[in-house]
Amino acid sequence: MSDTSNTTEIDMAAPLLEVRDLAVSFANPSAPESPRVQAVAGVNMTVYPSQTLAVVGESGCGKSVTAMSTMQLVPQPPGRFDRGHALFMGRDVLRFDEREIRALRGNDIAMIFQEPMTSLNPVYTIGDQIMEAILLHQDVSQEEAVEIAITSMRDVGIPQPDQRMKAYPHQFSGGMRQRVMIAMALACQPKLLLADEPTTALDVTIQAQILELLRELQRTRRMGIMLITHNLGVVAENADVVCVMYAGRVVEYANIFELFDNPLHPYTRGLFRSIPKLRENMERLVTVEQIVDNPDEYVKLDGFEKGIVPWWPDPPESVKPSLPDEDDEYMLHEISENHWVGVFKTDHVATHPSRVPDLDYRRSDF
Ligand SMILES: Nc1ncnc2c1ncn2[C@@H]1O[C@H](COP(=O)(O)OP(=O)(O)O)[C@@H](O)[C@H]1O
Ligand SMILES: [Mg+2]
Repeated sequence: MSDTSNTTEIDMAAPLLEVRDLAVSFANPSAPESPRVQAVAGVNMTVYPSQTLAVVGESGCGKSVTAMSTMQLVPQPPGRFDRGHALFMGRDVLRFDEREIRALRGNDIAMIFQEPMTSLNPVYTIGDQIMEAILLHQDVSQEEAVEIAITSMRDVGIPQPDQRMKAYPHQFSGGMRQRVMIAMALACQPKLLLADEPTTALDVTIQAQILELLRELQRTRRMGIMLITHNLGVVAENADVVCVMYAGRVVEYANIFELFDNPLHPYTRGLFRSIPKLRENMERLVTVEQIVDNPDEYVKLDGFEKGIVPWWPDPPESVKPSLPDEDDEYMLHEISENHWVGVFKTDHVATHPSRVPDLDYRRSDF
């Protein structure tokens, strides 16, 4: 593994990334007069050094838009930042100018995208592209850059990296291209890695290798990771903290063990119970819909009788609370210490404001 030169300056107790009340919307291109699509509707999450925050939730719930916002990668238009902040080491990235954002990207923060083919240039060799990323961000000679590129490729399990440097993207399989993307992202030793479904296209063995590599980098470089995935097995093995999203909002936020042992939001329970492998006995499989449509699932929330009701866009009629006349019926509430649930903003909740999700927790000490 490459060196650990810039780890000493990292304060382990200070967040790397604080997403605060982030709201992002898109114009509807086919119907410009219609309301904007609220992709992200007030999201809060925090990532610490050496920590993996897993972000889960069904397709379209706003995971990628949240991650891309923290590098200003949301196209504007049609996108627009409606409100909120994305603080990287205390500075709001959303307010960065072009020069500041270019210094940040691929340097302090790197992102691995879902579709590697769209992020590699077909007319340049793999080696040229990794080298370019290194030379752009690191003060090293051409020869040193070659060494770093080869080491990075070897680190992600690309065989014969010195030969493979000369190949073009189309000569690589999907899995190999994904590893190239990861090598490029890691070559610059980012403090924060945004990994958006990084291993979805890879077979299980390679996926495990890559995730092990990322964990190793966390230990040696204190890298923070936002890991976007729909694979709850990957979450179980890699996450320190889990953020469950639905419809552009955080519906649950807790440390990995608390979330798996004691899921409080009906949607989270639905996600877990619809996965056969995680179930210990052979109860009948249920769908997410069966759970979120069942009123009994809502009253299980501690504080329900005081008017704390899990937020859901279309809850069963019998549990829907009466709400003060406000724009947003949702808020994130710290139900018990270090465990947050998205709830309806009833009078009771509104008068008991709680802190934003901020969990300085890792499975093991580094
Ligand atoms: N460039 C775009 N233009 C219009 N709408 C977009 C764009 N990117 C994302 N969206 C919309 O924002 C919402 C959230 O998308 P996304 O963050 O990609 O979801 P996911 O959780 O699957 O990553 C979706 O409804 C999606 O259609
Ligand atoms: Mg996505």
